[in-house]
Amino acid sequence: MPIGQVEISAQFADRFGHLPNWIVRAPGRVNLIGEHTDYNDGFVLPMAIDRAVWIALRPRNDRIVSVYSIDYDEPGEFSLDELVTPAIKPRPSVAPPSATDGRGFMSGWIEYLKGTAWSLQEAGHRLTGWDGVLAGDVPLGAGLSSSAALEMAAARALAAAGELPWKPVEMAKLGQRAENQWVGVNCGIMDQLISAAGRAGNALLIDCRSLQTEPVPLPRGTSVVVLDTSTRRGLVNSAYNERRRQCEQAARLLDVHALRDATIERLEQSAGKMDPAVLRRARHVIAENDRTLLAADAMRRGDAVELGRLMHQSHRSLRDDYEVSSDALNAMVECASAHRSCFGARMTGAGFGGCAVALVRAEAAEDFARDTAAAYQRKTGHSPAVYVCQAADGAELL
Ligand code: GLA
Repeated sequence: MPIGQVEISAQFADRFGHLPNWIVRAPGRVNLIGEHTDYNDGFVLPMAIDRAVWIALRPRNDRIVSVYSIDYDEPGEFSLDELVTPAIKPRPSVAPPSATDGRGFMSGWIEYLKGTAWSLQEAGHRLTGWDGVLAGDVPLGAGLSSSAALEMAAARALAAAGELPWKPVEMAKLGQRAENQWVGVNCGIMDQLISAAGRAGNALLIDCRSLQTEPVPLPRGTSVVVLDTSTRRGLVNSAYNERRRQCEQAARLLDVHALRDATIERLEQSAGKMDPAVLRRARHVIAENDRTLLAADAMRRGDAVELGRLMHQSHRSLRDDYEVSSDALNAMVECASAHRSCFGARMTGAGFGGCAVALVRAEAAEDFARDTAAAYQRKTGHSPAVYVCQAADGAELL
């Protein structure tokens, strides 16, 4: 259940004996199209969703950050003076976002707060301690960026307490740095940037090279539905890093700075000297970049049919060329696509498990959600979780 402002304030008051000064909120996201393109300097088209991480906080007079997590029923505390720069190598002691502690909770939540504080301080920001209460309703390990939401909520809280201006792009980059160097996950910029800069009612076309963003409205009369397969797979990190390496290898062979700069024609000319798997990875990224720009055009025209067609193509490319889908994701996309109200569906996020996303007729969204969940359950035996989503604003102070 999403926690309300009143409830999180009450929990803060119970714990600390007075009301919080602020409540901050940072959303999770679903990516409509543009998958595995962000770390190739390419284009992505995510939207922030109405599921978020919330922090109620009040500044302290010292350098201690003391937070109680409602979801874990666990306190955490650190001093801003004790955040030591981690060794270059990712720290294996910190659990990746998909790790769970057996109750389905992500372990190591305090590390995301520490990492974000470390990253802000490394960038020269002067921070102040605070007391906080934390809660969230972004499903963990589902590919909806619960960790980026936590980092951006932490950044928004640290900025509020330290009286720093909120600059979404800078904060997203610092959140990404925390994830890369403190948490040890080598992600791109998409998740932090959409959580920091999302716009209600819109997806955001992000150029991951210039970091320019453009809000693009959802076609009139459509809804976005998130379809959680309820499957999670380990080893996502190693597979993700392997894909990144293959993309870098392809860019070197094509003699371009990043795959963003390559074309399908150039790839075809060089196909003979490439390892077949590297060739398939590059083909996905180059075509996905084109699809993402076409999808943004279709959205500007309000063309839901074309957007849906591009989403289908994206799924096939992720399944066959990038090889990051799974049986459960494929089954979910098939069930969704078979529904008469569906314009298009695809896996979303890093892949291997987690969620698919569908674009559907708004007036039939609830029917679609119910029928697709039932069809998926019959087909796979897994119990899915399905949400009709609203496109939300990025991180904010309430
Ligand atoms: C994860 C990463 C993102 C992006 C996607 C795949 O969500 O955090 O940076 O690479 O996978 O598109």
